[in-house]
Amino acid sequence: MKIGFVFTGEVDTDYCQSIKQLTKLPSLELSEKGKFTHILNLDESGLSLQSQELRAGETHKQPTRVDFQDASLLYRKESFGKHQGLAKAVGLNKHKPMHVLDATAGLGRDAFILASMGCEITMIEQSPIIYSLIFDGLKRAAYTEDLALKGILQKMSLLHAKAQDYFKEIEQGKKAKPDVIYLDPMFPPRNKKANVKKDIGLLQEVLGFDEESNDLLKAAKGFAKHRIVVKRPGSKVSKGSIKPSFIVPGKTAHFEVFV
Ligand SMILES: C[S@@+](CC[C@H](N)C(=O)[O-])C[C@H]1O[C@@H](n2cnc3c(N)ncnc32)[C@H](O)[C@@H]1O
Repeated sequence: MKIGFVFTGEVDTDYCQSIKQLTKLPSLELSEKGKFTHILNLDESGLSLQSQELRAGETHKQPTRVDFQDASLLYRKESFGKHQGLAKAVGLNKHKPMHVLDATAGLGRDAFILASMGCEITMIEQSPIIYSLIFDGLKRAAYTEDLALKGILQKMSLLHAKAQDYFKEIEQGKKAKPDVIYLDPMFPPRNKKANVKKDIGLLQEVLGFDEESNDLLKAAKGFAKHRIVVKRPGSKVSKGSIKPSFIVPGKTAHFEVFV
C-alpha cells in the first residue's frame, strides 16, 4: 500500500503544511496519482481519502471525508430508535449527563451519535491520517449556522494519541476518569466474504486490523467510572474474548458491556 498527499486549488498553505508534517506522506503532482494505491487530497471542499484501486464491478471510487453536516441530517432522519443499542450500551438510561471517552475515534460517527444524544465526547485517534480527516471535518463544521449542529459539536473534542497513553495520564491524575470508555477497534472480519461499508473498507485497507483488540480492553480496565463498552462484529461473543457483564445485541454488530 502506498499513500500520497495531493493538494489542489486555493488551499491554506500553513494548513497544508501541518497535514504534511503530521501524516509524513509524500507530496505528489496530480499526474503521479497512478503510482499510489491511496490519495489523501486537500482541496477547497476539505480533506478526503480515496482508494485508487477498483474492486470487481466498480467503475470509480468516491472519496471519503468526514462530514458532520451530513451526519447531522442523517441522524435526524434516522431518529433515536436506530441507535438505541448504543445508548443502552453506554448506560444513557442510568447516567446523564455523561462523559464518554471514545478511545478509537475512526471517522467519528459513533462519537457524533453519542454527542447528539447529549454525551460529552473526548475522541482519541492514533492514526495521523484518520485524525487529520476528523480534524478537517470538525474545522469545516465549525462554520455551520445550524444551531443544533453547533450544540453537538461543542460536546466533541479530539486528540491525536494512543488510547493507552491517555489511560496513563488518567493513572497519573493528569486527566479525569470518564464515565464510560467506548472501544471500536478494527476487528478482523469473521467471515472473509462479509460485505463491509465503503468507509470501513477504506479504513481496513489503510490501517489493517487490530489483532490484539483484547489488549486495548485490558489496558482500559479501571479507567472508567461506570463501564467499558466494546463494539464487536457479529451477534455473539467470540471464543477467547474476555467475558462481558452483558451484551446489547445489534443487527451486524453487538456491544459487549463491562460494568
Ligand atoms: C473501526 S474504527 C472506529 C470507527 C468509529 N467508531 C466510527 O464510528 O467512525 C477504529 C479506529 O480506532 C483507531 N485505533 C485503534 N486502536 C487505537 C488505540 N490504541 N488508540 C487510538 N486509536 C486507536 C484506529 O486507528 C481506527 O481509526
